[in-house]
Amino acid sequence: MPCLEKVAVIGAGTMGAGIAQVAASSGVQTILIDTGKAQLEKARNTIETSLQRMASKGTLTQAQGMETAKRISFTIDITDAEESDLVVEAVFEREDIKREIWEKLDALCKPDALFASNTSSISITQLAAISKRPELFIGMHFFNPVPVMKLVEVIRGNKTSDATAAKIMQLAQELGKTPVEVKDFPGFVSNRVLMPLLNEAMFAVYEGVASPEAVDHVFKLGMAHPMGPLTLADFIGLDVCLNIMEVLQDGFGDPKYRPCPLLKQMVAAGKLGRKSGEGFYKYQG
Ligand code: CAA
Repeated sequence: MPCLEKVAVIGAGTMGAGIAQVAASSGVQTILIDTGKAQLEKARNTIETSLQRMASKGTLTQAQGMETAKRISFTIDITDAEESDLVVEAVFEREDIKREIWEKLDALCKPDALFASNTSSISITQLAAISKRPELFIGMHFFNPVPVMKLVEVIRGNKTSDATAAKIMQLAQELGKTPVEVKDFPGFVSNRVLMPLLNEAMFAVYEGVASPEAVDHVFKLGMAHPMGPLTLADFIGLDVCLNIMEVLQDGFGDPKYRPCPLLKQMVAAGKLGRKSGEGFYKYQG
């Protein structure tokens, strides 16, 4: 039995759908909540496709896939989170949107329910301060594609209790992940190190040192990265990359984190990577 029985995931985007899938796979009753019915339907399809893919590879049986799917309920009603032992928020990276959601959840959830944000860039201490339970608040940063990537970066806010951190480390392991605990500073560890790498790869293209294909080949063949940095930036979303570079620049006040002008220009032009059909590469379908 998992250490927590009921989990609510807020936000049915790529990350929310992936988090709901891994939670349900480990035996947890999972509710996926979003304001849009179409988004929930899309998430349901994504989860089913991913489970089928895993079943066809033999990672799980057809029966396990069906049981996992049955453990997830989809709803547009946030009050359905009231009985949850843990709420994981994975909505758009805007503090005003997160604030509104956490205020609602704080009022309706059980007083001992744990709160986790999947934010990749906003301070956990700042988000925790919105709730009246900062000691029960923590960062649970998953990686895309969630069913495949093993890491969960667990971020302790300034007031996160030892008991909360221990519970979340245990849960992450039960989800089949390897948790790594880090402190709450801009970009945590993952994006503090990854984003400047992607940004520098963009500078190499911007300054005409090499083409995107050439930069990616260097990293795939020379450093065994599964994706080159520009393919990865397109995969993550160039708007997300820009947002994280700005968080690093603001948070540290150090010009070494300045976003590449080419990145800014591409985002302004709506070239956001895979999701918009074009970034450093073009995508179809
Ligand atoms: N669900 C289930 N299984 C999936 C899947 C999904 N959504 N996506 C891929 N897989 C499985 C495949 O079935 C395959 O399984 P087997 O090894 O058993 O055959 C395996 O994953 C590899 O997939 P593919 O063969 O389709 O393709 P690939 O070998 O090119 O791998 C990849 C795809 C896993 C995405 C790989 O390219 C990769 O690891 N890329 C780097 C991803 C990365 O760095 N993610 C982190 C981004 S940063 C972030 O998320 C956080 C942030 O804050 C910005």
